[in-house]
Amino acid sequence: MLKILVLGSGAGGGSPQWNCDCPVCRKVRAGEPGTVRRTQSSIAVSADGDNWFLCNASPDLGQQIISIPALQANCDSGRHSPIVGAVLTNGDVDHVTGLLTLRESHPLAVYATGRVQKVLKDNKIFNVLNPDFVERRAMEMDTPLELKTKEGKASGVIIEPFTVPGKIALWLEDETAENFGSQPEDTIALKISSADGASTFFYMPGVAEMPPELAERLSGASLVFFDGTLWNDDEMKNNQVGVKTGERMGHMSNSGDDGTIACFAPLGVKRKIFIHINNTNPILIEGTPERTEAEAAGWEVSYDGMEVTL
Ligand code: MLT
Ligand code: MN
Ligand code: ZN
Repeated sequence: MLKILVLGSGAGGGSPQWNCDCPVCRKVRAGEPGTVRRTQSSIAVSADGDNWFLCNASPDLGQQIISIPALQANCDSGRHSPIVGAVLTNGDVDHVTGLLTLRESHPLAVYATGRVQKVLKDNKIFNVLNPDFVERRAMEMDTPLELKTKEGKASGVIIEPFTVPGKIALWLEDETAENFGSQPEDTIALKISSADGASTFFYMPGVAEMPPELAERLSGASLVFFDGTLWNDDEMKNNQVGVKTGERMGHMSNSGDDGTIACFAPLGVKRKIFIHINNTNPILIEGTPERTEAEAAGWEVSYDGMEVTL
């Protein structure tokens, strides 16, 4: 069995975003019916309900822990946390800066690709994760690995990381290089299973496109949490909140002939849940035509605090 908690369902900036007055942010900020606020994307996974691993660590992690009792200290006195590790899917601000909230002397294992581990190493502020207490482990692609606590205790959670089409973190882009200097291990997704093999799901908060080999990998899956960033590739421009398309940001859109809903239609995935949803995306509001279309195609829109047992 696996327990999954959605800590944050929003993309970078959350919903509403602090400086955004797009139609969706305006409605969410006003608390209109059919809206909820969202923090930045992250889930927590556990096989035993006691030891939890974060998949990505958002800048909202402190607030997320305050909202979710399963992640709070419970040892009667002194310091304790059920969070025993974190697995990173890229080096984006919305996925790594929560590590700073986990400072300082708490035993943790941080899993990431060699590329992302280098990003953490090169940024000395991450040394607030005291190396005496926090072990940084590199992940090999396409190689199943049982997550362990810093002390080496087996968790019952197996991850298999694999590269997906994507882009290097925005703040690391090299304008002069092809695809801004992105390398395969800059953006990965996770296949997460229970050690007994009975439960398996995918966590994929950033995916730029769906090549045939990725579609094949996902075919028939029980559950996929998938990049829900934008409904339309041009959504940021249309809302006058930015100039970048989804394609430029490394995110495939929900709608359209090459979009996520169309790509998943033939795959027979049993449960499909959007996560990492940008504040401009109309699927964030219940009852919009876009939300209705996504739901009619079998998609769920994750929300902060959502619980899934698999
Ligand atoms: C993304 O998902 O594209 C990034 O989180 C963007 C950002 O760093 O703001
Ligand atoms: Mn993001
Ligand atoms: Zn907005």
